[in-house]
Amino acid sequence: MPLTILEIFKKLTKFEFRVLSVIEILMARHEFVPIEDIAKYMNYTEKRIRVTIDRMRKDKLVIVVQRHYLGIALTFIGYDALALKALVEKGVIAQVGPEIGAGKESDVRLALDDDGNDLILKFHRLGKLDFRATRKARSFLAEKRHLSPLYESRLSAEREYSALKALFDAGVSVPKPISQNRHIVAMHVVTGQDLFRMKKNEFKNPESVRELSENILNEIIKSAKAGYIHGDLSEYNIRLNEEDYPVLFDWPQYISLDSGHANLILSRDIENVLNYFTKKFKMSPRIEIKEIIDKIFVTRENAK
Ligand SMILES: Nc1ncnc2c1ncn2[C@@H]1O[C@H](COP(=O)(O)OP(=O)(O)OP(=O)(O)O)[C@@H](O)[C@H]1O
Ligand SMILES: [Mg+2]
Repeated sequence: MPLTILEIFKKLTKFEFRVLSVIEILMARHEFVPIEDIAKYMNYTEKRIRVTIDRMRKDKLVIVVQRHYLGIALTFIGYDALALKALVEKGVIAQVGPEIGAGKESDVRLALDDDGNDLILKFHRLGKLDFRATRKARSFLAEKRHLSPLYESRLSAEREYSALKALFDAGVSVPKPISQNRHIVAMHVVTGQDLFRMKKNEFKNPESVRELSENILNEIIKSAKAGYIHGDLSEYNIRLNEEDYPVLFDWPQYISLDSGHANLILSRDIENVLNYFTKKFKMSPRIEIKEIIDKIFVTRENAK
């Protein structure tokens, strides 16, 4: 059985961590870092570094390719180790727990802080499929436009974290962000259930369904007024908390209210939500999407 992230993480020595972080630094310049550069940077012999690399390769923390030089790159597991270590050192987490969800572009895990409170770690993993496949040799510098999966994942986490912070501060119902390092966002757990998992008989009565749809729309309007449009909203990215109040999550693809096609994306988000209520509850929405959109954009124009 392959080791879990946690087991790998615990096994790493200080020296191995140093090698990982040097590879990370040098990956700003190389897709695959020449082993020679790592040795030079750390002031060790190539032979010494090779022993460590060989060990870490077995745990899939790094991959090694033979080009006209021997090149090393971090894998997502190696990147996980660096980010988790930073979060431990920052005092954000004390322990990493089980995975509770694996999406197309992220893995979500529970973790514990120093006081034993649960929190959520969302590991952004963009382009992971592409990364696993063997890619053709190509010049990294010549293809700057192609971002590396690790870098793209970090940007995605940074975007989600900054959106969560701004939205939370604006009083929108989103998970409370705690911290972010590299491709990992730490946030509060929303205890409750994803909307798409709710069964019809779990809703008290038609009135509570209507109230829920109105609460969701209100939160969409609040987030738009704060400048953020979700861009991928549906019953899959809404959770009901213990008070059955909706919490909007999964924000990395948000677009700004100022961007050209903001009104279209906003209409689509609202439509997705209304469709869910129509299909599941045969509820005909009292809401005119156009009216909402006009209200947001007119208020915006007036404020300028
Ligand atoms: N703060 C949170 N509290 C509780 N559960 C969460 C929280 N954040 C995420 N989850 C759970 O993890 C699942 C996946 O989270 P999220 O939607 O953010 O990522 P994703 O869907 O995997 O990403 P992608 O849409 O790119 O595949 C959610 O459906 C939800 O069940
Ligand atoms: Mg999602």
